Amino acid sequence: MPKIDVEKTRKDFPILSTTSNGKRLVYLDSAATSQKPGGVINAISEYYRTYNANIHRGLYDISVKATEAYTKSKEAVANFINADSYREIVYCKNTTDAINLVALSWAEGNVGRGDTILATEMEHHSNIVPWQLLAKRKGAKVEYIRMKSDFTIDMDDYREKLEANPKLVSFTHVSNVLGTVNDAKEITRLSRKAGARTLIDAAQSVPHMPVDVKDIDCDFMAFSGHKMLGPAGLGVLYGKEAMLEEMPPVYGGGDMIRSVSFKESTWNELPWKFEAGTSNTEGGIGLGAAIDYLNKVGMKNVRAHETELTRYALKRLEETRGVKIYGIGLKGMAAFNRAGVVSFNIEGAHPHDVSTILNSEGIAIRAGHHCAMPLVNTVLREPAVARASFYLYNKPEEIDILVDSVAKVRSVLHLKN
Ligand code: ALA
Repeated sequence: MPKIDVEKTRKDFPILSTTSNGKRLVYLDSAATSQKPGGVINAISEYYRTYNANIHRGLYDISVKATEAYTKSKEAVANFINADSYREIVYCKNTTDAINLVALSWAEGNVGRGDTILATEMEHHSNIVPWQLLAKRKGAKVEYIRMKSDFTIDMDDYREKLEANPKLVSFTHVSNVLGTVNDAKEITRLSRKAGARTLIDAAQSVPHMPVDVKDIDCDFMAFSGHKMLGPAGLGVLYGKEAMLEEMPPVYGGGDMIRSVSFKESTWNELPWKFEAGTSNTEGGIGLGAAIDYLNKVGMKNVRAHETELTRYALKRLEETRGVKIYGIGLKGMAAFNRAGVVSFNIEGAHPHDVSTILNSEGIAIRAGHHCAMPLVNTVLREPAVARASFYLYNKPEEIDILVDSVAKVRSVLHLKN
């Protein structure tokens, strides 16, 4: 394994030394939410213990300190994705909220009757439903770029669909079901050439690999703090400054204004224009600490570690009787980029039963449609799939426990095939 001392890393995550059902917890559900290192937990605790105050509102020391820490976390986020400045970093509740913000602000003013929004067949509901709602409001339509049988985007279909001049291409960087890493730079380049704006759902990429918004050149990017070692309840919308400047706010209230009279209001500067009401200060401070942690490890090392784990998991699962994998296989990894998300089914077993039996072995995986019903039900033609997903704190021995327990599932369910 390159560059990450996994045993040392695991010691930073208190939950990883706990037990579940009398067994050491094997946490393989980081695509749903990541675990938190002590440094993040301590940063939040220290805030509440020593400088809890409302930001932007107090002229006293602890409020100034909280405001500085919150703003500093935005600077850390901006550096992490290579944005120009913290003015391009809007804090939201989560990825879903960030995408809805673009739908309710930019798209509300720029998408009209008969216009098209392009997404892909591998989207999470958070990158489908806001566009369906918008399409209903506006008389617009949502179209989906097809996925090929090798679990990658059909770029020919994409080029064809661009000929209809969509207003926006909104696509996932990494599929939360398949682990496919889409070529964000090329998809964005083509969309720009066709005159469309681009939004990237980076919920499964920013936590796991180096991501550079300038290099990709997207207009918007959305991701969640809780999937990258930070606390829940704080997501990020990155937007190019020029785009955010021209967008109207969606939520009105305190802090997002410059002036208010009984008749009308004017808006605060970026990024505060989009953040009405008291901020999620602990969320920002926690995310700042999470980014410090990830920077110390190095995102290239995180990516390399997870790639090795994924290769090992695919090798072991592909050798295991009765297991069907949904996503690029071990051989395909030579040609295609793949992330540490491995969906599978055991022939003859419902994934909910698989997950329940694995739980009795202390293993946490996710089973279901993974908030991607069109992909799972219509494209993969499955009611549900089981999914193991990895992060910097997972180790090959945990994959061995998973694979050995798959054999137990087969025996508990008396599967003969
Ligand atoms: N989007 C998260 C997942 O894929 C919740 O599990």
